[in-house]
Parts: sequence; C-alpha cells; structure tokens
Amino acid sequence: MEQPRELLSAQEIAKRVASLATEIDQQYVSSRELVLVGVLKGSFIFLSDLARALTVPHRIEFIAVSSYGDKESDEAGRVKLVMDVRHDIANADVLIVEDIVDTGHTLLYLTRLFEARGPRSLRTCTLLHKPARKRVENGLDYVGFEIPDVWVVGYGLDFAERHRTLPNICSIPPQ
Ligand code: IMP
Repeated sequence: MEQPRELLSAQEIAKRVASLATEIDQQYVSSRELVLVGVLKGSFIFLSDLARALTVPHRIEFIAVSSYGDKESDEAGRVKLVMDVRHDIANADVLIVEDIVDTGHTLLYLTRLFEARGPRSLRTCTLLHKPARKRVENGLDYVGFEIPDVWVVGYGLDFAERHRTLPNICSIPPQ
C-alpha cells in the first residue's frame, strides 16, 4: 500500500492552532461560560491542543456521531448521535470543534441539535475544510485550513482507524 503523503506538517498545524486560539480568546474574552464541544473521534487531538492554547476559561464536552455509512455522512446526509454531551449547554457560549468539514452534513446536524437547546451563542470551528465536497451550507466561524478533495489522515483523523496518531496531516490515495 502507498504511504501517506504529507499535506500539512506538524509545525504548520501548531502555528495555525495557536493563531486560531488567539482569535477565539478575543471572541470570548468576556464570556461567562464557554463550552468547547469536541466531535469524536477525529477532533480529539485538535481539541486538546486548541484547548491548551486558550487563555479564556472554558469547559470541555464531547459528542460522538456516526454516519449510517461507515465513513463520511451518506448521500442523504443522515447522521446518528452515538454519545451526547454530559451537561446542559443552555445559556452557554458553545463552540463546536470538528476535525474536518466534508459534505457539511454532520456539522449541520450538530448546529441544529445545539440550537434547539438554547445556547447563549453557537459557533463552529473546524481544523480542515474541503470546499469542493460541500453539499450543504454551514456558516463556519473558524477554519484552520482549506484542503483539496483528498482523503486525509493523521492528527486525529483516520482511515478505517489507521494513521490517527501521525503528528502531521497526510493524504492517502483513494482505496
Ligand atoms: P461530513 O458530514 O461529510 O462533513 O463529514 C464529516 C466527517 O467525515 C468528519 O467528521 C470525519 O469523521 C469524516 N471525514 C470526512 N473526510 C475525511 C477525511 O479526509 N479524513 C478522515 N475523515 C474524514
């Protein structure tokens, strides 16, 4: 099998995560309750780096979703809630932290889910965005990198559970 090819180095990622944290710090400087909601599994490394780079107080929640297919959300955009957050997010400033926005179905599902719970504010942050694959419109507030339409692994992202712990982000050839 061909080896993953580097798209973003660990240094590039670290620099961008630090600048996202600066922007987020500024946005939430007077927030009374900021909640970062990491979308499992892919966001766990990004979330842990981002959260540690923030200076504003915040708490962390996780949510897990899966598509009805095994990979991206399916063509119909169906998304399944596998694990919900533990605490109520009503009246909190909620920031959804995603690894990658591909078709956008997952993020649309999540924003609708959280909007219905009465947060004080709701914003979205994704490390990666594939604009070419977009099927639904999402207002993305923070985007780390826009990438081409390739399957990427590393820094939390996987292909069939492989390559998640690579320190960089790599593309792999279509399987
Ligand atoms: P969407 O609903 O199509 O935007 O898909 C979002 C989810 O699909 C992400 O949270 C990932 O779990 C998965 N995904 C989409 N593209 C990739 C990729 O290139 N590498 C790894 N996972 C991906």
